[in-house]
Amino acid sequence: MLRDALLQMSRSSRVRDVVERAPVTRNVVHRFVPGADVGDAVRAAAELTASHRLVTVDHLGEDTFDLAQARATRDAYLTLLTQMSEAGLTEGGRVEVSVKLSAVGQALEGDGEKIALEHAWDICSAAQQAGTTVTLDMEDHTTTDSTLSVLRELRRDYPWVGAVLQAYLHRTEADCRDLATAGSRVRLCKGAYNEPASVAFADKSEVDRSYVRCMKVLMDGDGYPMLATHDPRLIDIAGALAARAGRAETTYEYQMLYGIRPDEQQRLADQGHLMRVYLPYGADWYGYFMRRLAERPANVTFFLRSLATRS
Ligand code: FDA
Repeated sequence: MLRDALLQMSRSSRVRDVVERAPVTRNVVHRFVPGADVGDAVRAAAELTASHRLVTVDHLGEDTFDLAQARATRDAYLTLLTQMSEAGLTEGGRVEVSVKLSAVGQALEGDGEKIALEHAWDICSAAQQAGTTVTLDMEDHTTTDSTLSVLRELRRDYPWVGAVLQAYLHRTEADCRDLATAGSRVRLCKGAYNEPASVAFADKSEVDRSYVRCMKVLMDGDGYPMLATHDPRLIDIAGALAARAGRAETTYEYQMLYGIRPDEQQRLADQGHLMRVYLPYGADWYGYFMRRLAERPANVTFFLRSLATRS
């Protein structure tokens, strides 16, 4: 219930105004988003890589409804890649980028998908020059087919482009089978949007079971699984499945969000696992922040307590 309400609020411009203006919001947001500027992202990425964690950087933004904004987001990624490269962080894919197609134009009327493809292609070209990769985030289920279609197009020129699949969708096990091919980078997450029961499992344990089934397909396949979860049980199962499939530690990676279970991130990295942190930055943090609150009631309590003690 609380999750549904928060996810609905994440689409409300009225609630957005209130949350963005609340004086303490920034301090709480800071836990999940290190800053608004590219310099903040470079600094945070340098700190993470110094502790042997890999990074994927997201320039925050979604629901772009005008072309100028979509171009500006593309340009922000080009600047980001240049600066990360100049800081020596992109080599060998240590720091890559994650892109939401809606932020680069997918939702524009008419030619949205084509525009998003062109912008994503420019970002891939810059990533290749910087010696790194790009992963396409997955948004709500109405965009899944379009995003996978853009992925296929991009992979003709850039076979290293990563996909994201969401275990809460009924279709995902089949999508995992399609994408578990040689060289195919696939991030598996549970899914963070408010989806109808017609397309997604509603029950948490059903989502977890689907995650395990999907993980088996990816681990047994020929691709490169990227296991994006903070769930301790699923992390243990991932290790067991990797061992069962005879996978070396360099043939898959764990991924977690910036600011969530940092000690566990470090523990996995120190054990010699590849551990990548999803690092969002930018001024447009509202939707991302509300999805993080929705994932964990304790985060809401923390946020409300901060509001109460400051007001
Ligand atoms: P779950 O929510 O069950 O949490 C398991 C445990 O992890 C909790 O008990 C808690 O200890 C900890 N935890 C989880 N979330 C927390 C939070 N917000 N604050 C504090 N602790 C928390 N989704 C999507 O739809 N499209 C996408 O492209 C992506 N991309 C993506 C990339 C990466 C690298 C990650 C890690 C996640 C995503 N997600 C995503 C989000 C994902 O779908 C999911 O919502 C979150 O990862 C939370 O799910 P968990 O698997 O962590 O399990």
